Amino acid sequence: MSKFTVLNHPLIQHKLTIIRDENTGTRVFREVANEIAELMVYEITRDLPLEDKEIQTPMGKTVQKVLAGKKLAVIPILRAGLGMVDGVLEMIPAAKVGHIGMYRDEKTLQPHEYFVKLPSDIDQRDLFIVDPMLATGGSANMAISALKKRGAKNMRLIVLVAAPEGVKAVQKENPDVDIYAAALDENINENGYIYPGLGDAGDRLFGTK
Ligand code: URA
Repeated sequence: MSKFTVLNHPLIQHKLTIIRDENTGTRVFREVANEIAELMVYEITRDLPLEDKEIQTPMGKTVQKVLAGKKLAVIPILRAGLGMVDGVLEMIPAAKVGHIGMYRDEKTLQPHEYFVKLPSDIDQRDLFIVDPMLATGGSANMAISALKKRGAKNMRLIVLVAAPEGVKAVQKENPDVDIYAAALDENINENGYIYPGLGDAGDRLFGTK
């Protein structure tokens, strides 16, 4: 079974409370959601491989560490996933960005794929799939299959708020995909929203309703 990790660094918890608050407006929501994504990626990339590099400091020659050049990509699930991309790119500016468009049928709550545009070497990249809310797991599972169908092999799912139902669904269907969340909430309510959650992440990010 894949790993599920809650990254509950104090800064992440503090910032998550800011965006949960219904009084937080669009501008701050957008800024802080990206900051959380940035902090999460900082934690998640602890295992990035390093290699030796000989350099010259003003004092003399030395061998030091640099990133070994692992190819990475961030894949936002549209549209709310866009709200985490800039944060991820702050940490790993060389990452490519692929997009997967999903919308949720408001009646059936079922996800539908409408757009997929990925880097051509997707099979050689480690992917960070980003989506603020992991509710039923339907969109995440559909995005993961869309990626696997196109050759992707290594991927992790990064969400701000997860519901236990969504974690279970992704772990069941995709036991090879580790999941990282800033918080694990109580459940999904009768309207398909995570409780206590933060509401509709897309609407809060983009000021729509
Ligand atoms: N999508 C959202 O934006 N919010 C939720 O609570 C669940 C799914």
